[in-house]
Amino acid sequence: MTAAFQFQEWLNSHSQRIEIALDGLLDSAQTIPNRLHEAMRYAAQGGGKRIRPLLVYAAGSLGDAKAQALDSAAVAIECIHAYSLVHDDLPCMDDDDLRRGRPTVHKAFDEATALLVGDALQTRAFEVLANAPCDADVRLRMITALSVASGSRGMAGGQAIDLESVGKKLDLAGLKQMHAMKTGALLSCAVELGGLAAHLNTSQMAQLEKYSTALGLAFQIVDDVLDATADSQTLGKTAGKDAAANKPTYVTLMGLDYAQKQAKELQETAIASLDGFGIKAVALKDLALLVVNRAK
Ligand code: IPE
Ligand code: IPE
Ligand code: MG
Ligand code: MG
Ligand code: MG
Repeated sequence: MTAAFQFQEWLNSHSQRIEIALDGLLDSAQTIPNRLHEAMRYAAQGGGKRIRPLLVYAAGSLGDAKAQALDSAAVAIECIHAYSLVHDDLPCMDDDDLRRGRPTVHKAFDEATALLVGDALQTRAFEVLANAPCDADVRLRMITALSVASGSRGMAGGQAIDLESVGKKLDLAGLKQMHAMKTGALLSCAVELGGLAAHLNTSQMAQLEKYSTALGLAFQIVDDVLDATADSQTLGKTAGKDAAANKPTYVTLMGLDYAQKQAKELQETAIASLDGFGIKAVALKDLALLVVNRAK
């Protein structure tokens, strides 16, 4: 059996696992208010690469994490991510009609519902983590990590910089900071949650942080590249949006070649950071390859 084949199997089984966990932990559409719960399911289910949950599972496999603790962390981070996408697509933000190959939540439902879907997915994420079946100190560290990564010093802060940068020319350091916050923070947090659930020690957590910092930046660089090079049908979201909306991106600031080279370099940095873990880190390494070489 080749390593690539094993990864595909791992990917299939863990992709299935997150769908089952999400289905079990989201309220049913029969819960009152029905329409809000239906819209929350619409936002969180039905597509998505599930990279953040996959990172939780892969980091969790480095130690002795309980399967259900990883499921809770995977669902929590995906709920925050889904909320960030719903709000990112709103007319007051990126004003997008298409997400994961379907109408965005505010198009399929309405704007007020989309706002509330984001609010409620966010609080549901913390409820799920607060009930995660692991030691209280681990749970507290996970809740702290997710709140920092989601908030004004993480994803929400990065989104604020994104909006205030429209039509402006950020320098490379500014662009990196925006990417690290709006996208890198949640990806790093996914890895951290897995590591915490697995009871990794401080030096192992530091190695993981090097991996996830590189991967997080690579992820948004690739998102910028795909926005400029892929078509809407492949992406499942509107291509060419960044240029049309006058957003500073790696492609507009540094050019396509530089962006692609930079993503590859970061992929290598990420993979090299895992050397100390040996064979156990194969899923994390393969996820780094997947993130940088993806077509959507
Ligand atoms: C898109 O994230 C938004 C960014 C942070 C760049 P993904 O590319 O992970 O979106 P899905 O979850 O697969 O739809
Ligand atoms: C979004 O970045 C990052 C989020 C925090 C959601 P983008 O605005 O580039 O994401 P897409 O391209 O719409 O998925
Ligand atoms: Mg955006
Ligand atoms: Mg967007
Ligand atoms: Mg984008």
